[in-house]
Amino acid sequence: MRFTMKILLHLLTVILFIAGTVLAGDYVRPPPRKTLHFPWDPKSSSQPQQVHISLAGDKHMRVTWITNDGSSPSIVEYGTSPGKYSAISQGESTKYSYVLYSSGKIHHTVIGPLQDNTTYFYRCGGEGLEFQLKTPPSKFPVTFAVAGDLGQTGWTKSTLDHIDQCKYDVHLLPGDLSYADCFQHRWDSFGQLVQPLASSRPWMVTQGNHEKEKILFLEDGFVSYNSRWKMPFAESGSTSNLYYSFDVAGVHIIMLGSYAPYDEHSDQYSWLKADLLKVDRKRTPWLVVLFHVPWYNSNRAHQGEGDDMMASMEPLLYAAGADLVFTGHVHAYERTKRVYNGKSDPCGAVHITIGDGGNREGLAHRYKQPPPEWSVFREASFGHGELKMVNSTHAFWSWHRNDDDESVRSDQVWITSLIGSGCNTRGYFKKGSLASLGGGLGTGFLLILAGYLSLQAFHKRKNSYFALILETVCAAVLTWVMGQRYMQTSKIMPAGVVAGISVVMTGFYLYKIASGGNHFPSKAE
Ligand SMILES: *[C@@H]1O[C@H](CO)[C@@H](O)[C@H](O)[C@H]1NC(C)=O
Ligand SMILES: *[C@@H]1O[C@H](CO)[C@@H](O)[C@H](O)[C@H]1NC(C)=O
Repeated sequence: MRFTMKILLHLLTVILFIAGTVLAGDYVRPPPRKTLHFPWDPKSSSQPQQVHISLAGDKHMRVTWITNDGSSPSIVEYGTSPGKYSAISQGESTKYSYVLYSSGKIHHTVIGPLQDNTTYFYRCGGEGLEFQLKTPPSKFPVTFAVAGDLGQTGWTKSTLDHIDQCKYDVHLLPGDLSYADCFQHRWDSFGQLVQPLASSRPWMVTQGNHEKEKILFLEDGFVSYNSRWKMPFAESGSTSNLYYSFDVAGVHIIMLGSYAPYDEHSDQYSWLKADLLKVDRKRTPWLVVLFHVPWYNSNRAHQGEGDDMMASMEPLLYAAGADLVFTGHVHAYERTKRVYNGKSDPCGAVHITIGDGGNREGLAHRYKQPPPEWSVFREASFGHGELKMVNSTHAFWSWHRNDDDESVRSDQVWITSLIGSGCNTRGYFKKGSLASLGGGLGTGFLLILAGYLSLQAFHKRKNSYFALILETVCAAVLTWVMGQRYMQTSKIMPAGVVAGISVVMTGFYLYKIASGGNHFPSKAE
């Protein structure tokens, strides 16, 4: 009897569970998974570990690895057939200490020039395993794998496995790599975890909050990150590893730093301005930007954290016609329409938050309701994205969630580039400066004319009302233009000051007209 009761109870539970799941409609969100356990793997101390590669300027690749042996050489031998190395490059090395931890020798060796879309076989430090890498193609199509906030849990493993199944050329990571959070050996285990993928395709990363590892009074931030994940900042004219840019096939990619100063007086801001000016959309029709903290996010997590950076930098990206922005930080997925200034805008960028790589903190489930008009798709699941640039105008984006350990494609969309859309893709400064130059020259010419007319009139002891009106109109137009400029840029210099002077001049000329122009003393005799 008690046995039957037990069976009935079990049955009831099962029915309730199934009903619950079905009624809930969605699939049940998985909890975070455990941090992976890395068994102690004794290696000879000169054996290369944690090998990863990154793009390092045109046709070059940086190979990074670590050895425990401080005398191991920073050389990479490479070639296009296995075991036969036709070239050798000498690199540099670094190391760092962090509280009680001392890193191994971190080698950075740039190899190249390399052919496009070609497999190379290489060996680090003159010994150990042979690795292989494939260089990206130099023309379309080109495919990127995108996953942020990775960490090193069971979910990270599942995300990496899915990425491994996809055919891609370059991995893009919008911040938060190892979740070492000051425990330096976790950087080493992360390096070990990602080595199979990161040694075969370039990993291009930018920093997240988990890379800071700043301890009060003790260390500068980003010590481990900068030492281990050196990116091509010098190659792209930047002075900091926290922001840089690079080209792949027809795509210009800008990696910004959410945790480097970004205000209008910052180095990062000046560098971004200069970098955007250099973009040639004929050569790189696509403009893609990555950073960690999202500007468009309707998840309750991390609301408003990106606002200051957005206020400073979004106008630059908009004026340059950025097509796509990838961010992380929020542990969920969200895709927007093209947006600018908090609203959908056909000339803005599509923003994609993809901070769901699989870290130990788990997912961010709570969303703002109702969704903002710009939010197209949002879901709190672990996963990764694939971005295939098919040609200069069409790209296919898909997001794959790690549903039940299968890489399910959950969101997909064709994105057309801003090139040829009628939107400005030439940059604020070029357009702005040309307009300013034209406007300045035009106004200057009119003022000279007005001055000449007044002089003529003065000789005749008369007033030239035409000249006065011309001067008034010029001053009024200047007031309006510079006033607008000031409203857009909130810059006192020069917009605010010029607008201010123009207002005064306009008032002065109006007063002159009203008071009957210049009054000449009647001629003697
Ligand atoms: C890259 O090489 C593969 C074969 O190795 C080829 O199928 C593909 O078309 C090439 N891609 C480009 C853009 O050249
Ligand atoms: C680009 O690719 C899209 C999608 O495959 C296609 O419809 C379009 O015609 C292509 N454009 C060019 C210029 O090849």
